[in-house]
Amino acid sequence: MDQIIIQGGYPLRGEVHISGAKNSALPILAAALLAEGKSILKNIPRVKDVDTMLKIISSLGAEITQRGDNIELNPTVKKSFASYEFVSTMRASICLLGPLLAKKGEVKISLPGGCAIGPRPVDLHLKGLQRLGAEIKIEDGYIVARGELSGNNIDLRGPFGSSVLATANIMMAACLAKGKTTIFHPAREPELVDLANFLNKMGGDIKGAGGRKIEIEGVKNLEGKKHSIIPDRIEAATYIIAGAISRGEVEIKEANPEHLSFLLKKLKQAGVQIVLRPRGLIVRAKERFRPLHLATAPYPGFPTDVQPLISVLLSLAEGKSVVKEGVYPNRFVYIGELQRMGANIIPREAEIIIQGVNLLKGAKVMASDIRAGAALILAGLAAEGETTVSRVYHIDRGYEDLIKKLSGLGAKIKRKKERSS
Ligand code: UD1
Repeated sequence: MDQIIIQGGYPLRGEVHISGAKNSALPILAAALLAEGKSILKNIPRVKDVDTMLKIISSLGAEITQRGDNIELNPTVKKSFASYEFVSTMRASICLLGPLLAKKGEVKISLPGGCAIGPRPVDLHLKGLQRLGAEIKIEDGYIVARGELSGNNIDLRGPFGSSVLATANIMMAACLAKGKTTIFHPAREPELVDLANFLNKMGGDIKGAGGRKIEIEGVKNLEGKKHSIIPDRIEAATYIIAGAISRGEVEIKEANPEHLSFLLKKLKQAGVQIVLRPRGLIVRAKERFRPLHLATAPYPGFPTDVQPLISVLLSLAEGKSVVKEGVYPNRFVYIGELQRMGANIIPREAEIIIQGVNLLKGAKVMASDIRAGAALILAGLAAEGETTVSRVYHIDRGYEDLIKKLSGLGAKIKRKKERSS
């Protein structure tokens, strides 16, 4: 297992290029299975979750050719089965449920179970597919779904808002269902707009993605097409906060500031300077940060994936911040590690109270999920002395060339094999 070692206290300067969005690439790779012919997907990030998705897709019989960040996918699917071994390493593989059911008429896929950020139910995915006419059983920890699909009205509102991947699953399945489907209270994330754009290029008929209601007219078949994935707004957020927390000046290139508007508003309130550019932005921070009150919510609200990242910045603010988690109430596992670096954070039900400190101190810490891992890297960049982050395989799931990109900005960061004790 590898570790990442950071010498903190060096301001980041220069430019960083943002990769394609992992959360767009995963459902779009699944959507390519719906087509009759090859798709060419560009700007696919080279991250572990994409590798896992490609492994599952090729285990189903599809042919994949990968050149850099381009993938040619020939959807010659023979099997309609995703095992526990795959799904337990990447819960997003649940987004194969809709496309496989629509394409093959049946599918067997492992239930995802829980993870470090809390329970991950799939009731909205199942309810939506049942409304499309699927017969669904749970057998030995697997979802088994079959049936011919017909359009219907579906309300995807859940206890924490809508579900991103349930919206993706229903949108994909409804493209090949008979008749019209209307999704009420869909998730509105930019990655779903990207998915809808790809499905429409393939011959789908989807209107309203990104809005409060999505209407889908089913079509007989879809054709493979070329598509380029949108920039990763969570990766962009990570480098924006890295630039700010290190008190440097960083130009974030190939990012879409529109997708980051809530975060940028909050960062400005905290005293971070942001200058928008046509395809990116410049971030700069000189003064001590001001504290914030914020609550995560589905898009266009403050992203839950950025909650651990901004909490690190707020742990260095002058005064008391309150961060409420409105999407995954248990997503605070990482605070124990930040406390070991000197952060003053008190958990309260579904929220944390952060009393800003003057300084974080380097320590040995452990990543518990992708964004918790990235948060510890950010803490290490700002801290005095050396920070060693272990279990970095979590970070590899979602960040392309993290060490190279941060080193390019002047961070003192390296990766090395962990010695077994
Ligand atoms: C996606 C993102 C993930 C992000 C999350 C929330 C991908 C690949 N992953 O995950 O990075 O953290 O959105 O923005 O896009 N829920 C239910 N029933 C369901 C499904 C979800 O109650 O059937 C709940 C979840 O427990 C959670 C909330 O809805 O509280 C949002 O989850 P969801 O949007 O489904 O997350 P994912 O799509 O899995």
